[in-house]
Amino acid sequence: MDVLLGAQWGDEGKGKVVDVIAPRYEVIARFQGGPNAGHTLIFEGRKHVLHTIPSGVFREGTMNLVGNGVVVDPVIFLKEVRALEAVGVDVRSRLMISRRAHLILPSHRALDAASEADKGKAKIGSTLKGIGPTYMDKTGRNGLRVGDLSLPDFKERYATLVRKHERLLSLYGRSDAPKETEEEWLDAVQQLRGFNTVDCEHYLDEALRAGKNVLAEGAQGTLLDIDFGTYPFVTSSNTISAGACTGLGVAPNRIGSVTGIFKAYCTRVGSGPFPTELEDATGEHIRKAGHEFGSTTGRPRRCGWLDLPALRYAVMVNGITELAMMKADVLNGMDIVRVCTHYRVGNTTVDRMPYDITSGIEPVYVDMPGWSSATSEGELPAELVRYIETIEAAVDVPITLVSLGPDRKETILREGTHVQ
Ligand code: GDP
Ligand code: IMO
Ligand code: MG
Repeated sequence: MDVLLGAQWGDEGKGKVVDVIAPRYEVIARFQGGPNAGHTLIFEGRKHVLHTIPSGVFREGTMNLVGNGVVVDPVIFLKEVRALEAVGVDVRSRLMISRRAHLILPSHRALDAASEADKGKAKIGSTLKGIGPTYMDKTGRNGLRVGDLSLPDFKERYATLVRKHERLLSLYGRSDAPKETEEEWLDAVQQLRGFNTVDCEHYLDEALRAGKNVLAEGAQGTLLDIDFGTYPFVTSSNTISAGACTGLGVAPNRIGSVTGIFKAYCTRVGSGPFPTELEDATGEHIRKAGHEFGSTTGRPRRCGWLDLPALRYAVMVNGITELAMMKADVLNGMDIVRVCTHYRVGNTTVDRMPYDITSGIEPVYVDMPGWSSATSEGELPAELVRYIETIEAAVDVPITLVSLGPDRKETILREGTHVQ
């Protein structure tokens, strides 16, 4: 099983790359996160944004699996299914959901909002999809799972959990769970029963034994990982490659290549430290040129220069064997492109991410000549080739894919072939 994941703070372009390489795989499996994710795919003049459904869904002959590590909001899931069916995608025959995946309730969303409001200025900047509270109920052993939908007492279990949430909401000074969305949720749950469910650990074991190629698709990014990200400004799951094992039930010795997706610069949405952030006209320029607005929430993304200590960290904790560099076209026409190679901490210079990057660290940059115009047609400009080679040397991993536009076709596999 190969793994593909974000090497920065999310939104690196995972959806695009999964869609590009999906024909090499029989199964694409999401292993964590939920509708906080927004994975964008663009081809044949149309844009699609996926939140829960794996990004192989447009490829005929590819099975898409929502793993046990994912949290599913039935309402959002059904909206996604309907949007896909409206453009003629036969979702139901290409999709399976793990029975062990946990359900997001409307009251989880209410708790997410209450927790964020309570934090005030210190808020995480959550997407407010109920992700944190749902994973809290999972680890607290209170959660409802997709497999529970077939239990005769599902409704009572649901009511018990909602009552618990109401008690928690009252601690936040909020009186009740949102009744107006309950009916819609219960209706969506009823429809969810019609989808194929599976014990994904057995399904994948059989697929791998039969010699099928499986790709695990990550959501969010390494620096949003609950253990190794910029805690507490992180999401509530393990976004790193180890998460693919626990989120799908696949043993570590079955992992093959690990592809890390990164932008030629950095972005982050929501709160939290971001050492190379540009709060100036250059940052604004990158945001405009890169259309850096959230795929899920529409919020403007914070933009900054590429951070090599952070990328090296991602290579290390994930065991990244190859890298895909996205959006170098966004930097077209800049005279100078800066890269952070080290941090200055007090009087010392370090090349790894310190425990705390909230304050007292200063990025050390090298300036590189920019490129006028990089497209997926023809030769790459010499300056961009130098940029790529500098990164490869700094992190000691090859960049095997370069993306120079949002469309499926605007992709270069570095052996020299274009994607059809
Ligand atoms: P994901 O969450 O990692 O799948 O990434 P998102 O879809 O949230 O954000 C990536 C954004 O960049 C989307 O709007 C893509 O259409 C766009 N995109 C992906 N690759 C490229 C690229 O190489 N160049 C440009 N200009 N846009 C890209
Ligand atoms: P994809 O898969 C970028 C961020 C939120 C917030 C923090 C916690 O599209 O790359 P949560 O809703 O999980 O409680 O939010 O994590 N975040 C993302 N940022 N891309 C994502 O997903 C994200 N999912 C969550 O902005 O800072
Ligand atoms: Mg995204």
